Amino acid sequence: MSTDVAIVGTGVTKFGKRNDVSYQELFAEAAHEAISGLENISPDTFEGLWVSAAMPELTVEQAHVGNLGAQILGISPKMVSRVEMACSSGSSAIRNAWGAIKSGMIDTAIIVGLEKMNNNPVQANRGLLYVPDVTYEGIHGITAYSGFALAAQEHMEKYGTTREQLSSVAVKSHSNAAKNPKAQFHSMGEVSLEKAMSARMVSDPLNLFDCSPLTDGAAAVVLTRGDKAKEFTDQPVWIKGAGQRVEPSIGVSNMDSITDWKAMRSAVNDAFSMANISPSDIDVAETHDCFTIAEIIEYEMLGLAKKGEGGKFIEDGESSLSGSTPINTSGGLKAKGHPVGATGVAQIVEISEQLRGQSGDRQVRDAKIGVTHNLSGFATHHVVHVLSSEEELR
Ligand code: COA
Repeated sequence: MSTDVAIVGTGVTKFGKRNDVSYQELFAEAAHEAISGLENISPDTFEGLWVSAAMPELTVEQAHVGNLGAQILGISPKMVSRVEMACSSGSSAIRNAWGAIKSGMIDTAIIVGLEKMNNNPVQANRGLLYVPDVTYEGIHGITAYSGFALAAQEHMEKYGTTREQLSSVAVKSHSNAAKNPKAQFHSMGEVSLEKAMSARMVSDPLNLFDCSPLTDGAAAVVLTRGDKAKEFTDQPVWIKGAGQRVEPSIGVSNMDSITDWKAMRSAVNDAFSMANISPSDIDVAETHDCFTIAEIIEYEMLGLAKKGEGGKFIEDGESSLSGSTPINTSGGLKAKGHPVGATGVAQIVEISEQLRGQSGDRQVRDAKIGVTHNLSGFATHHVVHVLSSEEELR
């Protein structure tokens, strides 16, 4: 029996303000796309269902969404769970399904991530406020924005990272989103450096264009045991490495460093060791750019840039579509959007499409190895996956 796990189906909805659909319809839209191209499936195919959703109680007043997912799909799986790990719920759900398939408990699973934040933006923001350490840090004003703003201030002071470099991440993300019809800010088109730099302040030094938006969206992935992959599709994508680490800290005060994320380094090391790859092998990656500073630090944690040189990496164009390692070709959280529960699943969809050569205007030529990185909280929890178009890595 093959111990590899393959991705055989992927789907993602249009991201943005989706007042045109209900929560259930949003779920169905992504799931339908993931399933529709597959051969030899029936309701019994799906032995596992994971639903990734961070805040449906607050935004759509619905709990028990694992069971809701089974109803929408009309399936009766052996394993079913709703996963809530804030912004990294989606990749955590995929990791759980991957583990269940690898262990032999089930053969095939569907993972659906979704969020409908614009249904009730006030409640969505409330949900985000519950993510850091509410009791000891929230009362002092630590939020996602201010936490990452502290990281930006420190990175600028310690390593000389500049305002231009932060905004260059946004410029690159919007340029990619302009090539992705499903991105929230697709119709905004290219954004100039001047526009990104002069946007209104949110939490100093992070301005509007340094932030991901509130987003409605869903994404779905079908995973199966490696030796069954060809029953469903002739173009599977292989999960060759996986890593997940969490800091013994939910907020900033117990972290050793707010600009050097130990847990991410460990998750990257675990995933890269399992896949037997090094940073130079990465053809394309989706990383968690909830704020522009996060992407800059992630270049460093992935080993693409030396510590402190993440700003130079974007400035030199290394992460652009034509650069050495294109990052966030979808537009990233910044410009594709960040429907919290869907994000980690949508990253896997983007990289799978890249590895299958299905990314249209934003296709990275000859992409064979791709990486996803999804984080939550104040960068206290990280999930990394290494995907490959080949069952055996080059
Ligand atoms: N980037 C660029 N433009 C944005 C944007 C963003 N991140 N967010 C909103 N806009 C635009 C809207 O499209 C809108 O444009 P329009 O007037 O042309 O239609 C305008 O700004 C006002 O939108 P609105 O939603 O009212 O803005 P806001 O001030 O209420 O919210 C943020 C802006 C950044 C505060 C909000 O998007 C937010 O909370 N983002 C962070 C979400 C977050 O923390 N996620 C978790 C990360 S770990």
